[in-house]
Amino acid sequence: MEADHWHQRWQEGRIGFHQGKPNIWLLKFYSELELTPGEPLLLPLCGKSVDLVWLAEQGHPVIGVELSDIAIRDFFKEQQLSASEHSQTHFKQWQSGPLTLLEGDFFDLSHQDLGNCRVLFDRAALVALPAEMRQRYAAHTARLLTAGSRILLVTTDYPQHEKSPPPFAVSDEEVRALYGEHFTIELLHSENLSNGQDPLSKRGYLSG
Ligand SMILES: C[S@@+](CC[C@H](N)C(=O)[O-])C[C@H]1O[C@@H](n2cnc3c(N)ncnc32)[C@H](O)[C@@H]1O
Repeated sequence: MEADHWHQRWQEGRIGFHQGKPNIWLLKFYSELELTPGEPLLLPLCGKSVDLVWLAEQGHPVIGVELSDIAIRDFFKEQQLSASEHSQTHFKQWQSGPLTLLEGDFFDLSHQDLGNCRVLFDRAALVALPAEMRQRYAAHTARLLTAGSRILLVTTDYPQHEKSPPPFAVSDEEVRALYGEHFTIELLHSENLSNGQDPLSKRGYLSG
């Protein structure tokens, strides 16, 4: 999924992936991240997710990275927040209190942009990308995060022929292949979501 695809979706309001409430798996497994008070988090491919706000309300500085200026403008408008803006090398930075949204391509993110952030929450980021980009995404993520970093990752798996992506089906084996070299992988939960609990998936599991 190239940038044009996402810009077009935001322009046309095709954002079925957006949830109006904090992600249920984030709420359920937040404590597993064992965050220290005030520890910052990174949300790649963040859209206008209310998870950003929920995490900030827990006392964390939050960095979101998002291609679409529509998503970012909508986010601050819907949250009734005013943000200061300034341009950096690769990103336009939008700042409001503990919330930093970087408008640009996640693949341009560097250690410098990230500061001391060592925790990442991934909901609908990895699964938004086709296979080749997932490899790039995981490799880039592993380069960005230093030793001892944690990722809470939400994925979905289903027979890919049943539905046209995104979200892409990502199997447990693929998660292990993508992250196993750099991270210890712990499956926290696996659930059949055929009751339609999560509009992104029929079957899902979570690894962190
Ligand atoms: C499936 S949506 C998920 C959004 C959000 N994580 C959520 O849970 O609502 C994927 C988002 O990633 C953004 N995106 C796609 N590729 C990106 C990239 N390379 N860098 C930054 N954002 C990207 C899209 O514009 C879109 O808002």
